[in-house]
Amino acid sequence: MSTTITSQPFNDQRPGTSGLRKRVRVFQQKHYLENFVQAMFDSVGDTQEQTLVIGGDGRFYNQTAIQTIVKMAAVNGFKRLIIGQHGLLSTPAASCVIRKYQAFGGVILSASHNPAGQEGDFGIKFNIRNGGPAPESITEAIYQNSQHISSYQILECADISLTEIGTQFLQDMQIDIIDPVADYAELMSDIFDFPAIRALLCNGRFQMRFDAMHAITGPYAKEILEKRLGAEAGTVINGVPQADFAGGHPDPNLTYAAELVEELFADIGPDFGAASDGDGDRNMILGHGIFVTPSDSLAILAANAELIPAYQKGLKGIARSMPTSQAADRVAQALNIPMHETPTGWKFFGNLLDADMVTICGEESFGTGSNHIREKDGLWAVLFWLNILAIRQQSVSEIVRQHWQKYGRNYYTRHDYEEIPIEIANQLMEGLQQQIPDLAGQSLNGHIVDYADNFSYHDPVDKSIAENQGIRIGFTDGCRIIFRLSGTGTQGATLRVYIEAIEDNPDNLFEDTQTRLKDLIEIADSLAKIKSLTGRNAPTVIT
Ligand code: G6P
Ligand code: ZN
Repeated sequence: MSTTITSQPFNDQRPGTSGLRKRVRVFQQKHYLENFVQAMFDSVGDTQEQTLVIGGDGRFYNQTAIQTIVKMAAVNGFKRLIIGQHGLLSTPAASCVIRKYQAFGGVILSASHNPAGQEGDFGIKFNIRNGGPAPESITEAIYQNSQHISSYQILECADISLTEIGTQFLQDMQIDIIDPVADYAELMSDIFDFPAIRALLCNGRFQMRFDAMHAITGPYAKEILEKRLGAEAGTVINGVPQADFAGGHPDPNLTYAAELVEELFADIGPDFGAASDGDGDRNMILGHGIFVTPSDSLAILAANAELIPAYQKGLKGIARSMPTSQAADRVAQALNIPMHETPTGWKFFGNLLDADMVTICGEESFGTGSNHIREKDGLWAVLFWLNILAIRQQSVSEIVRQHWQKYGRNYYTRHDYEEIPIEIANQLMEGLQQQIPDLAGQSLNGHIVDYADNFSYHDPVDKSIAENQGIRIGFTDGCRIIFRLSGTGTQGATLRVYIEAIEDNPDNLFEDTQTRLKDLIEIADSLAKIKSLTGRNAPTVIT
């Protein structure tokens, strides 16, 4: 029976960089999820007779939320739902499934790498027909609707079964429970040279480790790497998804993937290491004794794209988010293809990909992807690297070093200050903003400021403008310092400081990053008064 339930708005339902993310207990408030879902269904266009994909990263509350969404979808016009078995779909797999079945869109339940469990975070976001995150016009409409909501529609019925693959009906609505891995695995085998990768993984010498961090990519990595590509059993570690991610923080970076990093930096260790995050869209790439920064990884993938079957004909263009290092720009220049600089957030790549203006995109926040879907894709990046290693028959370290020798190196680091009070963070950004008009021409620690601004992006496709996307200070020597506040945190504010220096001298390519960037780090602190305003002596996380 369809019921209209009366409810009242919650004032905190504005989606952030990637959907609505809150503590689980916030979502557990009466009507909280339902209000947001109704506001979402009311904002995404005509839902009548449409197909909707649903799946999540398996964290605590995933299945509970799916049951609610299913019961609401049934009385909000949808004709068919496609749901990953057990409610699972990695974010890239969800994007793949939306595109493959030409669905109207999808609902992804995830808070990405944020800790999970009863005391952890939960999240929900809507992806549109192209498989990518909804643009700001839609997320803003969802927020506006959530602020005026007075009731929602839901079917009162028993829970559906998410365990068996197959078709069932809820009233007139068809529900297909699908294998969450199969479509994605097939897409990967269409893109990459699986026989070449298989030969590498089975040559008896090459060793790799993939850390799924107890999150969604376990089943995907086991199926693709171990089963289809023949990597030895045990290649995938922490491969069984758990509702609380085993109490961990599945963010693939040097801090949170410490176990993997230690193994790769041991005297005797695997040749290749990789990790993905809670929902499978991020990646970290390691070689024996080397960490490949996400910015370098983007540049290296682009430079080697012609070795990959799907990109053999070359790239239409490359895009990176503004704070991502300019390493990929050098590759674009060498390839004589366009380079696009967008604000932080994968959604800004969607229009460029749809218009076929770019083929490969990446962000410093451990995201890389291409036109195969409309989300960043962790395992795709891992397979891309494996494909390069298989063809070039060199180590990760040799490939990176040769890349720097050919294109120069962009030394790069990001310093995060997490959970600082929101007022302090705003005061700090405001202080920087006020300095902008006077900075150009000044000499700071010997670096002359070329420009200073608050980045705004003019989308060349839909002509939309995104303002206040981060304060950039560019120096005449190509160095950059960027400040922005994270849009994905759930507690206080996170200040991110991005620091980049350009090195073309072949004698200076192999220095320690933090040492090399010391003078710029000092400039950043003195401009933003980080230490005095936040009372912090050091960043929470350095990547
Ligand atoms: C998510 C988005 C990315 C973004 C990242 C960092 O992972 O999908 O596109 O780069 O968050 O965002 P933040 O606002 O926390 O720096
Ligand atoms: Zn993620």
